[in-house]
Amino acid sequence: MDKIIVEGGRSLKGEVKISGAKNAALPILISSLLADGWNTYSNVPDLRDVQSVKHLLSHLGARIETDGNTVRIDSGGLISHEAPYDLVRKMRASILVLGPLVARLKKARVSLPGGCSIGARPINLHLKGLARLGASIELKHGYVEASADCLKGNEIYFDVATVTGTENLMMAAVLAKGITVLRNAACEPEIVALAEVLNKMGADIKGAGSSVMTIKGVSSLHPVSISIIPDRIEAGTFMVAATLTGGDIKILDCEPDHLKSVMHKLRLTGADIKTETNSIRITGPDEIKSVDIKTLTYPGFPTDMQAQFMVLMSVARGLSIISETIFENRFIHVSELKRMGADITISGNTAMIKGVPMLSGAPVMATDLRASASLILAGLVARGKTEVNRVYHLDRGYEAIEKKLAHLGAAIKRVAS
Ligand code: EPU
Repeated sequence: MDKIIVEGGRSLKGEVKISGAKNAALPILISSLLADGWNTYSNVPDLRDVQSVKHLLSHLGARIETDGNTVRIDSGGLISHEAPYDLVRKMRASILVLGPLVARLKKARVSLPGGCSIGARPINLHLKGLARLGASIELKHGYVEASADCLKGNEIYFDVATVTGTENLMMAAVLAKGITVLRNAACEPEIVALAEVLNKMGADIKGAGSSVMTIKGVSSLHPVSISIIPDRIEAGTFMVAATLTGGDIKILDCEPDHLKSVMHKLRLTGADIKTETNSIRITGPDEIKSVDIKTLTYPGFPTDMQAQFMVLMSVARGLSIISETIFENRFIHVSELKRMGADITISGNTAMIKGVPMLSGAPVMATDLRASASLILAGLVARGKTEVNRVYHLDRGYEAIEKKLAHLGAAIKRVAS
């Protein structure tokens, strides 16, 4: 498997273009299951998770054409209603086919995703919601088997605001008979992006981006042509890179409105940030100040930026507290950061970070996407060489991260091993 080698100590400067958002692209590509005919999606990031979704959709019978970052999908001739274990285990977001398959084919058989390295990540709320729409649901041999002759709109209350749970239920409810109200729905920008696509396909969704969404079912949808929104987590990761290295980066093709909580915290660390309509200029401080963060659902500080922020705090002046409230086990990066000299103590869902003057490069590895990104960031400021192994995880969610960082002046390269 490839590894990434970083020589620390360079300050990053220049411009970087942000790719389409992974977590918007995945549900949107899957929404193609809801209509016959060719959909065209542009600004689709070239990522391993996107490949996995394409494999899954073609397994179901969709026709797919890819030309650079444009993907065309026609789900007119579906031949299967099953998402097998081998495809789901590669990418948990495969569970998103459940709602659309039941809505479209009246049945679905989807492998249960199981736990993952950042937490148990149950799908009980996806299943409860689908049952509220009238689907009968059974768990058999590690699979969810769901069926419904006709889904019927209903009130659904989510005990926890779940991103993919909300998306799954949106995609089931758009073709249900009558009105569905989703309460305590997730409000992330990726939910709004999916709602916009579904509405463009002919759905009637109101309230996306707030905690109450009303969906009036329609009898059929038609294909669309859309562009995927920018990846706010990729943009946030580059913003941390600039702050960390005392750099000066202009982040292009991003959506500053989606990054308010991240910008707020980065400003408190001393970064200077200026925004324009689709770009952010960020200049790192001479000395990074310590700041506490608590991960929350949107518009709070995103859990997907927690690991990257922790690297920043590892070299900040003073003490900071990071509380992870979304996933119970999302501190996988801590033991690796400690091997690089970070001073971090974990107690339950809280990490106490005492800034140190310098990290030192080391061979490291992580079993989660954002944790892997955080190790690259650590490598950028560490003394000497950092070797980030199991690049597989990075490739799931960052398009050409090493090329983009090298373009900004980082001493970074990918080597095949
Ligand atoms: N939860 C339940 N029951 C459910 C669903 C969720 O208890 O049925 C709990 C989870 O265990 C967790 C909380 O609800 O404690 C929130 O999880 P959520 O369902 O919102 O997470 P997700 O939909 O599985 C998406 C992103 C994640 C991101 C989280 C939180 C996609 C494909 N994935 O996951 O992205 O961390 O929302 O914002 O959209 C990543 O990109 O690295 C990543 C992990």
